[in-house]
Amino acid sequence: MNGIEKSDAAGPYPDEQYMRRAIELAKRGSGHVNPNPLVGAVIVRDGEILGEGWHEEYGELHAERNAIAHARAAGHRLEGSTIYVTLEPCCHYGKTPPCTEAIIEEGITTVVVGSDDPNPLVAGRGFRILREHGITVIPHFLKEECDAVNEVFFYYISTGRPYVAMKYAMTLDGKIACRTGDSRWVTGEEARNHVHRLRNHFKGIMAGIGTVLADDPMLNCRMKGGRDPVRIICDSHLRIPLESRLVQTAREQPVIVACLPGKNRTKAKQLEKKGVTVWEIPPETEAEPHRNMIDLSCLMQKLGENKIDGILLEGGGTLNESALQSGIVSKVYCYLAPKIFGGADAKTPVEGRGAALVKDAWMLERCGQRQFGEDILLEYRVVR
Ligand SMILES: NC(=O)c1ccc[n+]([C@@H]2O[C@H](COP(=O)([O-])OP(=O)(O)OC[C@H]3O[C@@H](n4cnc5c(N)ncnc54)[C@H](OP(=O)(O)O)[C@@H]3O)[C@@H](O)[C@H]2O)c1
Repeated sequence: MNGIEKSDAAGPYPDEQYMRRAIELAKRGSGHVNPNPLVGAVIVRDGEILGEGWHEEYGELHAERNAIAHARAAGHRLEGSTIYVTLEPCCHYGKTPPCTEAIIEEGITTVVVGSDDPNPLVAGRGFRILREHGITVIPHFLKEECDAVNEVFFYYISTGRPYVAMKYAMTLDGKIACRTGDSRWVTGEEARNHVHRLRNHFKGIMAGIGTVLADDPMLNCRMKGGRDPVRIICDSHLRIPLESRLVQTAREQPVIVACLPGKNRTKAKQLEKKGVTVWEIPPETEAEPHRNMIDLSCLMQKLGENKIDGILLEGGGTLNESALQSGIVSKVYCYLAPKIFGGADAKTPVEGRGAALVKDAWMLERCGQRQFGEDILLEYRVVR
């Protein structure tokens, strides 16, 4: 939704196609800039795109400076131009100099922005500095679409904890595996390829020991040019086999195993010798009935402190239910396959005790829907 009315816009009325292009560019940084935001920028004058850029790598130049460099390399001067940028330009010295300075120096006269930057070092100051230099600032342009690109960043910067997205693939009758445990594959190739895009996008991937014992998964990213996520396994009693593929590959792709304090020090040492990081996490105190499992909220706190800003939660059902119970899940990606497995013993995406009454259900709102071959991806935000 466009955040401004035509009559509110000082200077030229902004054009949605340029901001949409900036959003497309921002997404190219996916998997490379965490825990920084994804940002894209397009510089335009008289209907001509002069330069484009995005934040490409953590610690490197921001989108605005990359777009300016691109325009300059093509021989353009930027006086009187408009820059479309998906996030409020930074105005502080971090790993790179402030983008507001570059915009002012180049003589850009209009700045059209999508999202506000909640970073307390920026929040509103970027706009103020630009206006003080006579630059027209049009904020909140296609704000909802720009905000959607950075849900991980916004959550992490305001809570210090990772944004958790639960992902599962299920049949039309709500099963994630057959009664024998066979689950390869619930969905088709196109949907599975999309999962690898998600694995590239999120810094961490998390699963329960039940899934590790059943499937011996790799939890890596098999997308061309993708980045492997940090693997996080909830394993209260250190049951993970030393010969599992996760442990065997821990030196190439990090594995964090979260267990209860004082669990099997010998096993912990053997795991650490193979490159696994073992974290002792206190037990849940509020679970009903008492289960002596690690506290997910404490685990999130520690992951956040270790700069893990987002997690793709790949279950199974026992861990998924705990994650919902503990309130750490912000989003659900549900892939729906046109199959029916049936069977009362076949696993479902969310196990555990579940809600006693309809009014106790976790409530979600749909925020996306896409088709991958025969399968459908439904995206939801958890609202309660
Ligand atoms: N189709 C799909 O999308 C999909 C995705 C993933 C998995 N799966 C399937 O799901 C099945 C495994 O699911 P599952 O429910 O048996 O196991 P799970 O959810 O993968 O793991 C559950 C185990 O994690 C450990 N854990 C540690 N802390 C926990 C906490 N706070 N809350 C909950 N669990 C915690 C517990 O074991 P300890 O007490 O020993 O720590 C618990 O028994 C497999 O068949 C797999 O193929 C399907």
